[in-house]
Amino acid sequence: EHTRIKEILRNEEFVGKEVIVKGWVRTFRNNQFVAINDGSTLNNIQAVVDFENTDEKLLKRITTGASIRVKGQVIESLGKGQSVEIKVSDVSILGDSDPEKFPLQPKKHSLEFLREIAHLRFRTGTFNAIFKVRHALAFAVHQFFNERDFVYLHTPIITGSDAEGAGEMFRVTTLDFDNTPRTESGAVDFKEDFFGKSTNLTVSGQLEGELGAMALGNIYTFGPTFRAENSNTTRHLAEFWMIEPEMAFYELEDNMDLAEDLLKYVIKYVLETCPDEIEFLKNRLLEEEKNKPANERSEMNLLEKLTFVINNEFERVTYTDAIEILKRSKPNQKKQFKYSIDEWGADLQSEHERYLVEKHFKKPVILTDYPAEIKSFYMKQNDIDANGHKTVRAMDILFPGIGEMVGGSQREENLDKLLARMAEVGIEAEEIDWFLDTRRFGTAPHSGFGVGFERLILFVTGMTNIRDVIPFPRYPKNAEF
Ligand code: 4AD
Ligand code: MG
Repeated sequence: EHTRIKEILRNEEFVGKEVIVKGWVRTFRNNQFVAINDGSTLNNIQAVVDFENTDEKLLKRITTGASIRVKGQVIESLGKGQSVEIKVSDVSILGDSDPEKFPLQPKKHSLEFLREIAHLRFRTGTFNAIFKVRHALAFAVHQFFNERDFVYLHTPIITGSDAEGAGEMFRVTTLDFDNTPRTESGAVDFKEDFFGKSTNLTVSGQLEGELGAMALGNIYTFGPTFRAENSNTTRHLAEFWMIEPEMAFYELEDNMDLAEDLLKYVIKYVLETCPDEIEFLKNRLLEEEKNKPANERSEMNLLEKLTFVINNEFERVTYTDAIEILKRSKPNQKKQFKYSIDEWGADLQSEHERYLVEKHFKKPVILTDYPAEIKSFYMKQNDIDANGHKTVRAMDILFPGIGEMVGGSQREENLDKLLARMAEVGIEAEEIDWFLDTRRFGTAPHSGFGVGFERLILFVTGMTNIRDVIPFPRYPKNAEF
């Protein structure tokens, strides 16, 4: 019955026609101008009510947040900032919203405040734009892989494996009310198992993905993953989405090429399909930056930043070279780093990553060949180098303002080397016997990586807190709905 506002605003053919619009009231001015938003676009449509011939009681119910239906003719608007408006002939309230109680007012609210009413923040322009961009990025990811004949492989959420070997997992429990033992107080005594087997929520689909790649050739997973690290940062969630491609017969260089292509492709897709959202987010940031001293404002606006990334090659550097750059850097020598870099082998802290990406190279950086000690057991081992250093064919992609966005590697395909490394870090071979079969039967070079989807969205939207780019953020003590 109704037409979505986006259609009316972008299609001149509606001028002169009668339409029905349904949406939520954003503002109501001078007892006649209603700004209506139906979510289809960031823009509101203005409906002009004939207040002299409208019941006063009805006019009182046109309040911010109420849902409304208006019928009327689309006419060219004389007012500034809008091309058309609706000359209302009939108006009705679909759902009231008590203006005394509705927490969103027609003004700019802080992101902190909106996080406290996360269930209602969808109704703001900022979150409308963010979740449209999130959708576009997800769609582009599938399109990118589909164009390259990758198979979307659904890997399990409940699994017995700890892919990263880091142990930061949520355990799964079976809840059988009738047969579950009760504690003395009568409360259910949760069994920490999955029908008698110990399982957890997946931290990564990689190991299962490798099984797929070693038969289908090229696969990817794209789903929620879980980390039980108790970190309250602007870059970590307990539940986040990860894009994980895995490719047979790919070496590290092929892996880097694919990751760079993927990131550029999806950013380009957003620039092409979401120009209004990016413009809105860009202006939001510029507004925010006005409050900062001039030397703290960024040199490029959001649009320029995104355009720069898709048009420039990422820098590729080994860990060993990066450590040399850091050692010689001013902040390190002046002891401005909280953790100074003195020795080969140290894990990079975010201050070091930021220095490399934002101050030294000023572009996305792919860091490779990390010390084996600080990386996962499954990464392909390099020959020991002239300095006696043991490295692995790892690659992390670091982004300005974000830090690590991608983690990946070429995989160790040699069974004996893999077993030796597992023994060193204390992983039992029986635990992942199924995984080791890929190395027992027709092993082959292969590679893959994982993109943190929310970190990608942070970069593309210019937002700074990861809790603002996922509809229902999960972080310590936050899982209400
Ligand atoms: O570096 P990570 O832990 O790598 C893996 O899980 C590999 N198995 C991926 C693979 O090779 N298939 O995680 C990959 C990315 C990180 O670079 C980061 O962007 C994101 O996932 N990430 C998180 N994002 C939000 N919250 C967290 N707690 C995250 N932990 C990792
Ligand atoms: Mg990592």
